[in-house]
Amino acid sequence: MTTIAKVEAREILDSRGLPTVEVALETGKGAKVIASVPSGASTGKNEAHELRDGEKRFGGKGVRRAVENINGEIARALTGASAKDAGEVGSGDAEGKEFDQRSLDVALIALDGTPDKSRLGANAILAVSLAFARAAATETDAGTGKLGVPLYSYSNTLANQSIAADARFASLGQIAPSLPTPSFNVLNGGKHADSGLSIQEFMLVPQRGTTTERIEVAAACIAKLRDNLHARGLSIGVGDEGGFAPKIGSNEDALDALVAAIIGAGYTTDEVKIAIDAAASSFFQEGKYVLSAQQALSSAELARWYEGLLTKYPIFSLEDPFAEDDWDAFAEFAKKVDGRALVVGDDLLTTNVARMQIAAEKHAVTSALIKPNQIGTVSETIDAVLFARAQGWVPFASHRSGETGDTAIVDIAVGLGCTYLKAGSLARGERVVKYNRLLEIADELVA
Ligand code: PGA
Ligand code: ZN
Repeated sequence: MTTIAKVEAREILDSRGLPTVEVALETGKGAKVIASVPSGASTGKNEAHELRDGEKRFGGKGVRRAVENINGEIARALTGASAKDAGEVGSGDAEGKEFDQRSLDVALIALDGTPDKSRLGANAILAVSLAFARAAATETDAGTGKLGVPLYSYSNTLANQSIAADARFASLGQIAPSLPTPSFNVLNGGKHADSGLSIQEFMLVPQRGTTTERIEVAAACIAKLRDNLHARGLSIGVGDEGGFAPKIGSNEDALDALVAAIIGAGYTTDEVKIAIDAAASSFFQEGKYVLSAQQALSSAELARWYEGLLTKYPIFSLEDPFAEDDWDAFAEFAKKVDGRALVVGDDLLTTNVARMQIAAEKHAVTSALIKPNQIGTVSETIDAVLFARAQGWVPFASHRSGETGDTAIVDIAVGLGCTYLKAGSLARGERVVKYNRLLEIADELVA
């Protein structure tokens, strides 16, 4: 159990130069940590609410209200001072209310009081929840003398506690920390670039080897892709997630460029496969999927187009192939694909067990994207991963397109045993720092 001596938020900038929330948290035993939260661009409409000021500064995207909510209401509710004020500890010592991760997250959810965390802001709540996780992991337990642990070990312990305590997860055995397979977003489209590509993410996923070897393979393919684009006179500037953003013509041209890069770097398409995030809500307009000026397709036509892609290209995973409420299209497609590729729900599921429950009933997906800021607390993120695992779905952890230097997502992916992790390309500090954290954990886990 952990007491919170101090929690203090600030407005910082994310990788797009837009405001986001950073929290400094100090525990009663003196652990001091910081945590910050990311922000999406192709945000699902069912995500927990990211509180923005709506004022002139930063085009309405300031987060001073979220910061004030932490420094005021949340700090008062969590720190020793307020617990004493409320008469909950009588001793008058400096320490206040004791929390574990679950009781902290439950307290934050109750304090907010809305279903989508819109009063205090999911950005405010997650920043505190993550900071608490990092602090509680670091803390040495005075009672037992047990030293602090890495955040991935802490996340793993929480997951196993939930498995033991929650009947919904009873079918799951205890899980061990494991290294996710990295998925590198090397061509950026959709709302992450002005490449003109309707599909948002084209990812390379080396299929074999250690984490280091997979990163080396990705680096070689990325270098080849860069050379090939440059030789064609196309831009090698990068988009929001560090992938190239060339005006390459069509989604098929992008896939051809990926295959050429894999082969050109000396690998086969068995050794390096492709994952796509269509983020189809972003090109769904007036009942049609607008792939290009020439192609406006129905759900059924789009499904056929994807099936053609699956036949022609080494694609093993398709995320958000349809819009966030097109449940039937997902379900029909998942049935047709029948395990030939993962059907991943991101905007469809929003890391929300209630939406995952609907997907389970409809057999709409075979994999769940996991983004802590879609739901807003560490505990609910753990529930989402465990729920997904209990359905037999593949858990796929993810950064956001607007990121900070915080690497918590990597530890969470490892601790909860997520099969895949996407953290962008091998470019831009806020992406590379995630892969460096993964390398660090890989060293620790084999040591
Ligand atoms: P976002 O994109 O962070 O802009 O939502 C990531 C994704 O769609 O997976
Ligand atoms: Zn997505």
